[in-house]
Amino acid sequence: MLVLAIESSCDETAAAVVEETTGAARPWRVRSSIVASQVDIHREWGGVVPEIASRQHLRDICGVVERAMDEGGVVWRDLDAVAVTQGPGLIGSLLVGVAFAKSIAAVHGLPLVPVHHLAGHIESLWLEHGPLPLPAVVLVVSGGHTSLYYVPSEGDYRLVGRTRDDAAGEAYDKVAKLLGLGYPGGPIVDRLAASGNDQAIRFPVARLTHADRTAGPATHLPPPFASSLRLKADFSFSGLKTAVLRHVRERQQARGASREAPPRDIFTDDEIRDLCASFQRAVTTALVDRTFDAARWFNAQSVGIAGGVSANSRLRRDAEARGAQAGIPVYLPSLSLSTDNAAMIGAAGLRRFHQGVRADLELNALASLPL
Ligand code: KG4
Ligand code: ZN
Repeated sequence: MLVLAIESSCDETAAAVVEETTGAARPWRVRSSIVASQVDIHREWGGVVPEIASRQHLRDICGVVERAMDEGGVVWRDLDAVAVTQGPGLIGSLLVGVAFAKSIAAVHGLPLVPVHHLAGHIESLWLEHGPLPLPAVVLVVSGGHTSLYYVPSEGDYRLVGRTRDDAAGEAYDKVAKLLGLGYPGGPIVDRLAASGNDQAIRFPVARLTHADRTAGPATHLPPPFASSLRLKADFSFSGLKTAVLRHVRERQQARGASREAPPRDIFTDDEIRDLCASFQRAVTTALVDRTFDAARWFNAQSVGIAGGVSANSRLRRDAEARGAQAGIPVYLPSLSLSTDNAAMIGAAGLRRFHQGVRADLELNALASLPL
């Protein structure tokens, strides 16, 4: 079975052809995966500009889909389904992919399968490694999301915790912007942190101890966790971001510099590296601690970490070390499957196809689609 997948939820226009085989160990194979990144366009603005993103998706989508078909060695009549990211994401960006996928499905008489972007990130692990030992605990950590899921069976994702404020990737991007390091911040901070002292500044590692009153009871989780889990499994990164800002302000004051003084003028290169390393320690400690807490609560047989921030070198290293310590295998996507791509949407599309999920031409993009 062959599926054409389309992803356009943020600033990457992506298309892929994913094949389902009969091999139980690795049922999904990526025939092609094309990503047109808009990062160079948005860099000038220091972040994604939604209006520019949707216009660029319009320019790129035909070429990206054509290339995915060519490199995948398929023609239209070979396809069995079209999968597309329905949400969440930027509405103007999502609409381009959804409209394009609907057109293809209508013209070629193909079933249309709507996919949740985070389901795509989770399934990137199954695409890369084959079936994970279950139950699993999967952390999806990206620029827009930091969410922890309990996965009791394939395709069944149950929210255990999520960020109350900024996503981890967003915190990376904002701190990099604050320090004048460039965009997107994650890979830059990761690189600078590698040669910094992570103990130089004692940034706080947030550990939430109070329940989120806006969230209902966790009846989707098995007892005895159902009523108590939300107390402990959420994340928060805005306090850390503020702590970095305070550190910069204190230094500006100490130097008698103005608030507009660029960090490059008030910190040495070594100090910037130490700042990055200390910030990164606080983020990755929070992520790894909470993920392995949940793994213990659920007696998880595996831990998965997916999404753009799973490309982070320290997060990968720390998670693998913690997994070895706890005797739980840790699964991470390769770098090309960790940031946004359509191959993961193809995998999630195949999963949903077999669950019988189909959309008709009424399908609409949803900016805040729940999983
Ligand atoms: O999954 P993704 O491509 O898009 C979203 O769905 O948000 O994730 C992008 C995010 C950005 O915030 C970027 O800074 C972050 O992933 N990121 C990293 C690294 N590579 C990308 N964060 C930390 N370390 C990295 N090496
Ligand atoms: Zn993503």
